[in-house]
Amino acid sequence: MKILELQILKKEVLKNASNANSLDMVKEIQINFLSKKGKIAEIMSEIKNVDAQDRALFGQTINSFKNELVKIIDSKLELLSQNEKIKTFDLTQPGQWNKIGSSHPITMITNEICSIFQKIGFTVAEGPNIETIWNNFDALNTPEDHPSRDKQDTFYLENGNLLRCHTSPVQIRYMKSNKPPIRIVSPGRCYRRDTPDSTHSANFHQIEGLYVDHNVTLSDLKGTISYFAKELLGKSVKTRFRPHFFPFTEPSFEVDFMHPTSGWIEVLGAGLVHPNVFNNINHDYEKVSGFAFGMGIERIAMILYNIKDIRDLYENDQRFLKQF
Ligand code: DAH
Repeated sequence: MKILELQILKKEVLKNASNANSLDMVKEIQINFLSKKGKIAEIMSEIKNVDAQDRALFGQTINSFKNELVKIIDSKLELLSQNEKIKTFDLTQPGQWNKIGSSHPITMITNEICSIFQKIGFTVAEGPNIETIWNNFDALNTPEDHPSRDKQDTFYLENGNLLRCHTSPVQIRYMKSNKPPIRIVSPGRCYRRDTPDSTHSANFHQIEGLYVDHNVTLSDLKGTISYFAKELLGKSVKTRFRPHFFPFTEPSFEVDFMHPTSGWIEVLGAGLVHPNVFNNINHDYEKVSGFAFGMGIERIAMILYNIKDIRDLYENDQRFLKQF
């Protein structure tokens, strides 16, 4: 091949490559000229036959031919394959949604219960999971020999504190730092040395309620609980108070709700705040009375959502959680 022929070929091929407007055309030029057995390789292998005086220029020309062609083809391939993607992009396809998750059923029930009480003037007050023995037991009028204080029932820590076994100590904390009138609900995590089964978990949740003011009576407690039951389960729900014993209330009750499908179900413990509890706080509480109540959140979630095994609530199985 003569140098002039090469120059003409170079010009023509570069022009064709620059004008190529489909991936197929570009690939064809790439194969014909740049592959191992392509035209450029062939021309290079014949450089020895070129007239000696032209050889240097011939070499330069074929090299620049190759380099420029590679550049043009690379940029064409990029551009045209992008265009191809845009062409195949279907605007009518549904978008891709990010999975944003949802609240856990325990959180949903907690929020719902809190908002039911917030509507009638209660505020949410929380306390720590690690409590003093005093707040968890003594201040709540729970004697040394009460079974719940047993090491087999409560998690004691080496530093003399414990993991609270109920949310009732929040009553003590709140009364110590606030004067009556008091209206609070206190949701939170509690701990007991229970062996897990379908209705027990060593770690569960409660919500506590406390109302302290002048002349708070049992009928205030009954009215409040009955309002709560109707808001939670519907207007037709009945409530039933059964006498019971709790160290921190007198009188004390267990309260059942009449659930449309499950019948009478035990939902909460309640009563009028025991005078000893007030005495354990300070003199601001001498002339007041109050009621308190406490309930397990898992239990309510299980009733409302018909959950048969409490452990389902903690296993974080997406198939379970997606249902809420
Ligand atoms: N703390 C009790 C428990 O864990 C529940 C309870 C009962 C709380 C009566 C109260 C109450 O405030 O008045 O079983």
